[in-house]
Amino acid sequence: MSAEILKGAALAAEIKEDAARRTAAFKTRAGRPIRLALISAQAGAAAQSYLKARVKAGQSVGIEAGIIPIGTDWTTERLAALIAGVARDETTDALIVDFPLPEAIDAGKIREALPPKKDAEGLSPDSFGRLFLAKRYAEARRLVVPPTAMACAELLRRTGIPLEGRRALVVGRSPVVGRPAAHLLSLLGLTVTLAHSKTQDIEQEVRRADAVVAAAGKARLVRGAWIKPGAAVIDAGVNQDGESLCGDVEFAAAAANASFITPVPGGVGPVTTACLLANAVLLAESRL
Ligand SMILES: NC(=O)c1ccc[n+]([C@@H]2O[C@H](COP(=O)([O-])OP(=O)(O)OC[C@H]3O[C@@H](n4cnc5c(N)ncnc54)[C@H](OP(=O)(O)O)[C@@H]3O)[C@@H](O)[C@H]2O)c1
Repeated sequence: MSAEILKGAALAAEIKEDAARRTAAFKTRAGRPIRLALISAQAGAAAQSYLKARVKAGQSVGIEAGIIPIGTDWTTERLAALIAGVARDETTDALIVDFPLPEAIDAGKIREALPPKKDAEGLSPDSFGRLFLAKRYAEARRLVVPPTAMACAELLRRTGIPLEGRRALVVGRSPVVGRPAAHLLSLLGLTVTLAHSKTQDIEQEVRRADAVVAAAGKARLVRGAWIKPGAAVIDAGVNQDGESLCGDVEFAAAAANASFITPVPGGVGPVTTACLLANAVLLAESRL
């Protein structure tokens, strides 16, 4: 079997089109555009270009995104105070805090400081709790959900393959990707196994999965030969591979077995950005 390559561009364009339409409607009602604040301590060239790409993506749907740089010497209290200021600012609708944060900052406390009504990445305890209380996928889709997890679930759902009762394996249990993705897949009716660094025989777990979502951040951790014939493979991993990028799945060999597979780059990434913008729109609309 040779897999269909699931590029993210078409789904991302569809989500962004809807976001653009709703952003224009918001502007008409509120008399101003939707505003998204990006707080970041990342100074490196790669991080800067990623930040600028998100600002540009916002502009492409009419969202005004602004970067608020913070110093690597900032404390937890100082960042929490900045976040509280953004929370009070009536003209800012959505907020992203770029992780990882400087070492001296307590990431857990910052997650707790995120105002749920402006939390564009769905990482505050309140947003996270709402997601895990959702009993149906349609209900979860109306919530602000960590965008990479939503991108993985939507890419899988849009393959159109029957999912109910099938086995899924999610590799990686972080709150940003793996854990919420596993919950979303369970809402899609899949029977989900959540693998992590302590999982003993990952090969056997992959071999029996009808759908694999890889989110470990380990280049080619999932070998192509392990993929069950006809399985769908969603690769959220982004790893530096010399000058270029690669995913967590050994792409060419996996494509020979899978029915669908996302490429890296160009698969989950663009859909994640689109889902993030959709979250900002949802938050802005709920503030009207
Ligand atoms: N495409 C996008 O838009 C997008 C967005 C966000 C993240 N990502 C990418 O997604 C990947 C995961 O990101 P993250 O933030 O979730 O990373 P993370 O916080 O480092 O979590 C990695 C997870 O993978 C597990 N893991 C590590 N090594 C493993 C192994 N050998 N076998 C099985 N599980 C293993 C870890 O297990 P333990 O819990 O046991 O440590 C952990 O749960 C990264 O490549 C990141 O760049 C992509």
